[in-house]
Amino acid sequence: MLLSLKNKKIIISAGASGIGWATAKVCLSKGAHVFLCDLDSKSIKKTQKHPLNNKRLFSYECDASDEDDVTNFFNQVYKKTKKIDALINNVGIAGPTGTIEKLTSEDWEQTLKINVISHFYFTKLAIPMLKKNKGGSIINLSSGAGIMGFPLRSPYTASKWAVIGVTKTLAMELGKFKIRVNAICPGTIKGDRMVRVIRDKAKFLKVSKKKVEKEFVSMASMNCWIYEEDIGKMCSFLISSDGERISGQAIPVDGNATRMD
Ligand SMILES: NC(=O)c1ccc[n+]([C@@H]2O[C@H](COP(=O)([O-])OP(=O)(O)OC[C@H]3O[C@@H](n4cnc5c(N)ncnc54)[C@H](O)[C@@H]3O)[C@@H](O)[C@H]2O)c1
Repeated sequence: MLLSLKNKKIIISAGASGIGWATAKVCLSKGAHVFLCDLDSKSIKKTQKHPLNNKRLFSYECDASDEDDVTNFFNQVYKKTKKIDALINNVGIAGPTGTIEKLTSEDWEQTLKINVISHFYFTKLAIPMLKKNKGGSIINLSSGAGIMGFPLRSPYTASKWAVIGVTKTLAMELGKFKIRVNAICPGTIKGDRMVRVIRDKAKFLKVSKKKVEKEFVSMASMNCWIYEEDIGKMCSFLISSDGERISGQAIPVDGNATRMD
């Protein structure tokens, strides 16, 4: 039987473009209701004009790293539904590229604030709605950099390892409420983010963008790009009843990345 998310209610942070939007589209196509927020008003408007924007999609402008903004977003969602089936903590920035001596404390603070503390704002408000639902799923976006070292990206790496620590802890705290908590660790995703990451790394190393791109793709045994939709499909599997006994895991979707250098 085809995997169904019929009538599942799903919140996605930073969901108006990139992996979040690809995931929203996968979930909508399987019958879910999606409540997404994003900082970027232009992307929010685009989602509102998308053909999939019927009564099952709600998009809202919100800075995920501002607790009041997140509370306002949840107040809006709460007017539409008191219970949810899933929260996808997707928000996360790439942070700076450079060796530790060259980075500033502001670089570190901003990366940890958006990639870790924002997840806390969403999770704290989502848990009562998941409990009301008598169970559900929290999915935290980590990275290959959450299970391996990643030279020149220390704040990002620290933030993504933190996401896995929180995931494993929450899975233990929330198991008795039938709330499952998992992290997904995407590999090198074809999309705007990697265009920027490759540009910054090529500039730092003073090599061509083509060379950096080839190296990134070769980190996977399958020597391939990963697509945003691949992450959406893993999210939909974890949210569905097919994933009902999977919790506390850090799941790579990366073509078997064996190194990040
Ligand atoms: N793209 C990759 O190669 C890759 C690899 C591994 C992990 N990830 C992780 O997956 C997640 C999604 O990545 P992506 O590549 O789609 O990201 P992205 O850089 O393409 O950004 C996606 C969205 O995040 C929004 N956003 C940024 N800051 C925000 C904020 N403070 N509040 C609300 N929205 C905000 C942007 O407006 C954008 O619409 C992140 O956590 C990222 O670290 C991405």
